[in-house]
Amino acid sequence: MKRWMRTAAITLAVTGAAAGVAGGAVVYFGWYDISATSPHTIAVHHLMDTALSRGVKMRSADVEVPDLQGAERIQNGSRLYRAHCAQCHGGPGVAPQPYALGLNPTPAALVGTARTRSAAEIFWITRQGIKMTGMPAWRHRLADEEIWDVVAFMRVLPALTADEYRRGEDGQAPATRAPAPGGNLRAGNANAGRDALHQYMCVACHAIPGVPGAWNYVGPSLAGIADRPAIAGTLPHTPENMKRWLMSPDEIKPGTAMPNLGVSEQDAQDIAAFLQTLSESR
Ligand code: HEC
Ligand code: HEC
Repeated sequence: MKRWMRTAAITLAVTGAAAGVAGGAVVYFGWYDISATSPHTIAVHHLMDTALSRGVKMRSADVEVPDLQGAERIQNGSRLYRAHCAQCHGGPGVAPQPYALGLNPTPAALVGTARTRSAAEIFWITRQGIKMTGMPAWRHRLADEEIWDVVAFMRVLPALTADEYRRGEDGQAPATRAPAPGGNLRAGNANAGRDALHQYMCVACHAIPGVPGAWNYVGPSLAGIADRPAIAGTLPHTPENMKRWLMSPDEIKPGTAMPNLGVSEQDAQDIAAFLQTLSESR
């Protein structure tokens, strides 16, 4: 190796290591200001914005957009928007809830988003959510058709006056419900089940081996759950019973501290398949 090359390589390695140590120190000693009241620096903001835009563009590229015309679709989208989105994003003449104003990053005014992002991108963001922002994923709460209804409504949103938006207020907000299986329930898939654990707060209450962030002990650890003869000490452990437990623990064991989380049948089947992999005897 030529001498200058070696010097350059050493300089790079040393600078890299120093940057790593400095970054590590900022994190370890708690110097990074994680409060929501301290705005991101322009550089961090720009980095996050770019990561979001590029990521969404790439991942939504093969989303197929259905027909978004039709009064019924838009009407339904309007109801869903009011029930699930306006609290954080507001609407023409309607402010978000106080807690949403305290979020950092601030939820965008979706009138602007509707003008700048494609239908496929809006669908993807709504379905998948955005990490570290407070934007929830809706795919386990709304069926794809319902998400498309919201997207269809967002297409007309920029044209609505505040009065027109308010007139759409019909007072009856549909409850959040898990998507109906639509008759084509597929066999439980352990990988899908592992992902779904993050969508129903399971990770906030249970220690689950191999699942990041799941190390809490509000409920029993799920390590070795596949080997246990009974679920919650009451129900014989079969795949069908596990599904029932996940969907309505309160019906199986009235007064249990495990809440009914609105888990859909498909998600329950997937999660049950994942839990079957948590055996200690294998
Ligand atoms: C709990 C608050 C909250 C709720 C409820 C919520 N969002 Fe968001 N949303 C956010 C936050 C925070 C962001 C990230 C900041 C940003 O880019 O707007 C975001 C971002 C978005 C974006 C990307 C905006 C852009 O211009 O990049 C879209 C699209 C979106 N949300 C759609 C929806 C839809 C549709 C609903 C209802 C089904 C919804 N959101 C419900 C908080 C929320
Ligand atoms: C708010 C906390 C909380 C959340 C969220 C929660 N659980 Fe539980 N879970 C509990 C508690 C508490 C128990 C013990 C219930 C009992 O025995 O009455 C329990 C029991 C269980 C059991 C039976 C364990 C055994 O040893 O028999 C399983 C399996 C389980 N939970 C899975 C899940 C899954 C999967 C999710 C997500 C869909 C979830 N839980 C969400 C608190 C929670």
